[in-house]
Amino acid sequence: MLAKEINFIERFKARASHAAQVQSRVKKLEKIDRVEPPKRRQSVAFEFPPAPRSGDDVAHLRGVDKSYGSRVIYQGLDLLVRRRERCCVLGVNGAGKSTLLKLVTGTTAPDAGSVTLGGSVKMGYFAQHAMELLDGESTVLETLDAAFPRAGQGSLRTMAGAFGFSGDEIEKRCRVLSGGEKARLVMALMLYDPPNFLVLDEPTNHLDIATKEMLITVLSQFEGTMLFVSHDRHFLAALSNRVLELTPEGIHQYGGGYTEYVARTGREAPGLHA
Ligand SMILES: Nc1ncnc2c1ncn2[C@@H]1O[C@H](COP(=O)(O)OP(=O)(O)OP(=O)(O)O)[C@@H](O)[C@H]1O
Ligand SMILES: [Mg+2]
Repeated sequence: MLAKEINFIERFKARASHAAQVQSRVKKLEKIDRVEPPKRRQSVAFEFPPAPRSGDDVAHLRGVDKSYGSRVIYQGLDLLVRRRERCCVLGVNGAGKSTLLKLVTGTTAPDAGSVTLGGSVKMGYFAQHAMELLDGESTVLETLDAAFPRAGQGSLRTMAGAFGFSGDEIEKRCRVLSGGEKARLVMALMLYDPPNFLVLDEPTNHLDIATKEMLITVLSQFEGTMLFVSHDRHFLAALSNRVLELTPEGIHQYGGGYTEYVARTGREAPGLHA
């Protein structure tokens, strides 16, 4: 409409016969508030800095028992996660996926058995409710700065930019951030100082498609080991090379990634998002 009106004014402003019409259009246009079109978020490429290499056995669970009250989640669980494996954990709600990740990260202790991490393992953990742990009063930049006090402002800003916080957005307080923004901030915190073992519990739940794709791209370049839970088909298919399925009968393991799992079992993961 603006373009059309401006065009009309340009064409007829020199003609006395159209003076009234031109005048009224000029007045009309003056009354219109011009709004900037929404900025498309700039996605800055994020290059995974190389992490120090870990030992070959990354996480080892031996004879692990875990119950909550009378609810038995694991009994005599043995599991070895080796370097460069990207294990996805499948199972219905309540199957014990988060519990497995908590055992591996030491967030919860086994009732019996042992959980050991291999030599030189540097872990990054994205917990299912990690975003709730951000300090609401701190800004994005303050949060990054508090986590990495020795990093320069420039590199923190670059990192924030790679995760979609451009310009003034790093001055936003965490309490006003959307779910997706919080998730992106937690990712930036996790990846700034590159780990070699990533434990991710539903990392893409609050992410928009563009950020999810960016994360998949970033993680596919990751040279370390991954243990993760996801209900996202593309995330699972792109990143896994081993499948652990939690069933009432115990853990079923499949070599090969999610795509091979689907081919072999003839079904998708339980609880998959479209
Ligand atoms: N701290 C706790 N106290 C008591 N019960 C718990 C505790 N944590 C988990 N549970 C129970 O243990 C079971 C496994 O929980 P877990 O969080 O590992 O499931 P999940 O597979 O991650 O499920 P979801 O897909 O919903 O995230 C559930 O029945 C849950 O209610
Ligand atoms: Mg869970």
